[in-house]
Amino acid sequence: MAHTDIFAKLIALRDEIRRHDYLYYVKDRPEVSDSQYDLLFRELLELEQAHPELVTPDSPTQRVGAPPLDELLKVPHEQPMLSLDSIVDQGEVQTFDQRMKRELETTSVEYSAEPKFDGLSVELVYDHGVFTRGATRGDGTTGEDVTVNLRTIRSLPLQLQAHSSLPDHLVVRGEVYMRLDDFQSLNRRMTERGDEAFANPRNAAAGSLRQLDSAITATRPLVVTCYEIMALSGSAPSTHWNELETMAQWGLPIPDHERRRLCASIDDVVTFHRETDLVRDQLPYEIDGVVVKVNRRDWQSRLGMKSRSPRWAIAYKFAPRKEITVVQDIVVSVGRTGTLTPVALLKPVEVGGVTISRATLHNADEVARKDIRINDTVKVERAGDVIPAIAERVPIPDEQRRDPFCMPDRCPVCGSTVGREGAYFYCTGQSACAAQLKGAIEHFASKHALHIDGLGKKTVAQLVDKKLAQSLADLYRLKIDDLVTLDGFADRSARLLLDSIAGSKTVPLDRFLMGLGIRQVGQHIAKVLAREFGSLDQIMSADRDRFQQIREIGPEISESLVAYWSEPRNREVIAQLLELGVQVAPGTATGDRATSSLAGKTFVFTGGLDHFTRDGAQLAVEAAGARISSSVSKKTSYLVVGRDPGSKLEQARTLGVTILTEQEFASLIETGQNVVS
Ligand code: IVH
Repeated sequence: MAHTDIFAKLIALRDEIRRHDYLYYVKDRPEVSDSQYDLLFRELLELEQAHPELVTPDSPTQRVGAPPLDELLKVPHEQPMLSLDSIVDQGEVQTFDQRMKRELETTSVEYSAEPKFDGLSVELVYDHGVFTRGATRGDGTTGEDVTVNLRTIRSLPLQLQAHSSLPDHLVVRGEVYMRLDDFQSLNRRMTERGDEAFANPRNAAAGSLRQLDSAITATRPLVVTCYEIMALSGSAPSTHWNELETMAQWGLPIPDHERRRLCASIDDVVTFHRETDLVRDQLPYEIDGVVVKVNRRDWQSRLGMKSRSPRWAIAYKFAPRKEITVVQDIVVSVGRTGTLTPVALLKPVEVGGVTISRATLHNADEVARKDIRINDTVKVERAGDVIPAIAERVPIPDEQRRDPFCMPDRCPVCGSTVGREGAYFYCTGQSACAAQLKGAIEHFASKHALHIDGLGKKTVAQLVDKKLAQSLADLYRLKIDDLVTLDGFADRSARLLLDSIAGSKTVPLDRFLMGLGIRQVGQHIAKVLAREFGSLDQIMSADRDRFQQIREIGPEISESLVAYWSEPRNREVIAQLLELGVQVAPGTATGDRATSSLAGKTFVFTGGLDHFTRDGAQLAVEAAGARISSSVSKKTSYLVVGRDPGSKLEQARTLGVTILTEQEFASLIETGQNVVS
């Protein structure tokens, strides 16, 4: 065959396979048998094998085969990926409607309603109709690059269908999820192999998409549905309904026609919600509510956004499912702040596809109010992410019941006396209580705090039980000889853990604050504090009034902050941490980006570093509002060169990229000033 004929044949075969993929995976209406499809596919494969120079990334054969990654790279979203405010009852949906009418100064608003898929949201980027990048939501501002994994999802078109409205650059958002039957067979396969089963389809979808090896993702039955066009060059559809239809014209999967509805009024939305709830259990995938969106896009823009969610849409959730089971025991668990929580141990029961064997009873008042005792029959419920809870007790005559439950007067873990604040009971042992210390260390090492890789629950438990860690500061005193004594540790794993502990030493202020585990100070308040005060010293010397001047900080949070800093033991641990080399960088991990002189810069690394781990370097770069890339290009701002650099050094020299030693990198990050002239 002449080269041009081969080329034409390749294009025709790819188009035909794409069309069958679309009919099969998106439309659910195949036109050919599996064996006919296989024949076409094999023909394409053979032709491409004979002419590898003609293989293009959008070919249907290119869904699998990318080499495994070392890590998922971070990518900034073009626009933040927001979440949705949730409501559960009809009154709230009416209030939402009234608010829309009031703000739009109108008497009638049309809504587009569709299922709320229970998976994980993704951003998909198409350039000139070709799928070029996909990312998870991440923290909403920055996601993880999962392009190669997304390519393995058959319902995701690698190339969009040509259409006059197809823009050169297109960003859409959607949900990746797993169908229930696929989830069950995947779990069966996993347990047969001795792997741990996933708790629910959403975890299975998330775990499968966030794989480093796309060959594994390819074996996982994921699907995608698109629900939003973000950025688009050219003219945009005027309503959400048209937005969905437009995406469908380009070949993107959208929610099934019979599963969505254009509602002329909020009453139609309520009807749609009720009808969808009734069929919910018959759907092949999990949904946890209905998403209601103001249909007109100009009205959406007029309504705008709040900090984390749009004003023009709402998640109208379903009432949680309930199942009956028996309370086999009531135990008391001790949290990282010492709070004693009664927990019901249940005869395992499946609620909405998840097996539940424990349910929190929250506190003593709640146990008394619901009057839950051992041996009672109860209804358990679970809504989305919410920890399973006991909804109610199935009544039986009192004489057939056990005695009421009482909170212990000694901590079940350390035996210290138990204090009480209203409904809350707490252990007074503080860091002398192993449960509190373990919780505090786990929290300190967690992803949103110091992010010490490899310091999981089991390791922390051993460190505390063997008295190798009696405070947060002790983590930075650990030696290789200590770690090799732990179960599951050998020389290499011990070194890796020590590396990540050392790598955590440079930490943005907000993450450090969050890691201290001060009551009421979560990620958001930690960011607020870091932004407001700028340095740890300033925060440590602030008084109650100063905290209260901050809009987002109320009396309870100020109280908790003051109580924390007035405890000498806390100040002592912080002093030790700083002495042991922990460096708290001013500002926040994700905020302050615009003001940092490194904001928007791109760093590439080559060779081994002596003073940073990979994670530590990434954290430091991100704290400065910059990002890391894996390859050198014209856009690279700096190449950081360590021991035994690779070919990136030569590329950087050729492209005239600024080259930094590790030391120069460290001072650049610290000061935000370039030390190289
Ligand atoms: S629209 C501005 N539509 O729900 C956010 N979201 O709680 C617009 N989700 O992160 C989102 N199904 O992952 C939208 N039909 C749907 C959805 C949907 C599921 C998820 C999405 C989002 C979360 C918000």
